[in-house]
Amino acid sequence: MKVLVIGSGGREHAIVTSLKKSPKVTEIFCAPGNAGIGQDATLVPIKPMEFEKLAEFAETEKIDFTVVGMDDPLVGGIVDVFEARSLRVFGPRKNAAILEGSKAFSKDLMKKYNIPTAAYENFTDAAAAEAYLKNAKMPIVLKADGLALGKGVLICNTLEEALAGVKEIMLDKKFGDAGSTLVVEEFMTGREVSVLTFCDGKTIKPMTSAQDHKRAMDGDKGLNTGGMGTFSPSPFYTKDIEAYCQENIFEPTVAAMAKEGRPFKGIIFFGLMLTEDGPKVLEYNARFGDPEAQVVLPRMKNDLLTVMEACVDGKLNTVDLQFEDNAAVCVILASDGYPVSYEKGFEITGLDAFAGKDEYFCFHAGTAQKDGHFVTNGGRVLGVTAKGTTLTEARTKAYEATKWVDFKGKYMRNDIGNAFLEA
Ligand code: AMP
Ligand code: GLY
Repeated sequence: MKVLVIGSGGREHAIVTSLKKSPKVTEIFCAPGNAGIGQDATLVPIKPMEFEKLAEFAETEKIDFTVVGMDDPLVGGIVDVFEARSLRVFGPRKNAAILEGSKAFSKDLMKKYNIPTAAYENFTDAAAAEAYLKNAKMPIVLKADGLALGKGVLICNTLEEALAGVKEIMLDKKFGDAGSTLVVEEFMTGREVSVLTFCDGKTIKPMTSAQDHKRAMDGDKGLNTGGMGTFSPSPFYTKDIEAYCQENIFEPTVAAMAKEGRPFKGIIFFGLMLTEDGPKVLEYNARFGDPEAQVVLPRMKNDLLTVMEACVDGKLNTVDLQFEDNAAVCVILASDGYPVSYEKGFEITGLDAFAGKDEYFCFHAGTAQKDGHFVTNGGRVLGVTAKGTTLTEARTKAYEATKWVDFKGKYMRNDIGNAFLEA
């Protein structure tokens, strides 16, 4: 089968790497991809939001199956465009991707179907939001309703901060239309866990758990980023918690979406917080996490294409999803200055060291080719993943492998996985 993957980050490199192992796959294309993905797939220079061009390419090239990695095209309705041309595509339709595309929608859904989440109110009027905040308990969380590159969430410790946040999101429109509606949410504390699941519209099957490190600096300091590193599984996500989530969160979510006439096919990523009152949903995403995919997919035993096809065909109940009984750690190598400002175009050396090593992966996120070598081309440059029998072993191996590669301004966190060492 000829497969097309849409996206250009480390997550898409991990998806391509897994698909490449499938005996059913004969050729992989990636639009637009990056230089590293270009070693494993044929790059197609079409942007992810150019739906008609992508669908045309899939028709002309006789692509059998398309996988959409990113949130923007999913929320924008790329799956509907492909389906209208009878092209097989993995991901939720527009009316289901709203689970990620609108936080107000997802909060209302959880309230209606009793899915545990933080208490909240939605506002479309800034004055009403300000009046509400004057009587609210601090800290409090403000969220822009729409997609905001993971930056539309403000945790406010004082009323002054909260009022400034309303101005930023609703009046100054820092996140554009994403801030036309504001969700004001109760502040929760606890361990965070990411659980990615496969869904076919009716059945939902969770993958192994992971934990992300979203802040730029050690000790969870600095600005929020797309993610600086992950580990899998999370030792805090016990069998009991998993069973609770399956019954009270995962199945009710997929059933609620079906009941609303928005059957969800694809990946639901549950961002959970393990609070004293039990697990609660922080957020839904309609795609694999980045860099969660870089630790979860390398541990998956099943053929990824087979599972994705089962989701599209509504036959996920026939799949026995299995993960290796080991652990993985991913450390992101970023450009110094990320996520604010950084330079690009520096030569990357040492990538050959990963060749032929089964337990090590170097997923490219922001790289390009220049004069026959790889250069940095983004804030997050590489994701170095290692597998081990334990989290501790995987972590040691991943940090060892970060030393194999070098580029000017190489920056990483040195405490990925400290949380599980405490456990
Ligand atoms: P989100 O994009 O909704 O996952 O939010 C980004 C980050 O903000 C989460 O990973 C949490 O660390 C934090 N966060 C979001 N909602 C809450 C909440 N209600 N209470 C505490 N922290 C939160
Ligand atoms: N790593 C968090 C995300 O992909 O949204």
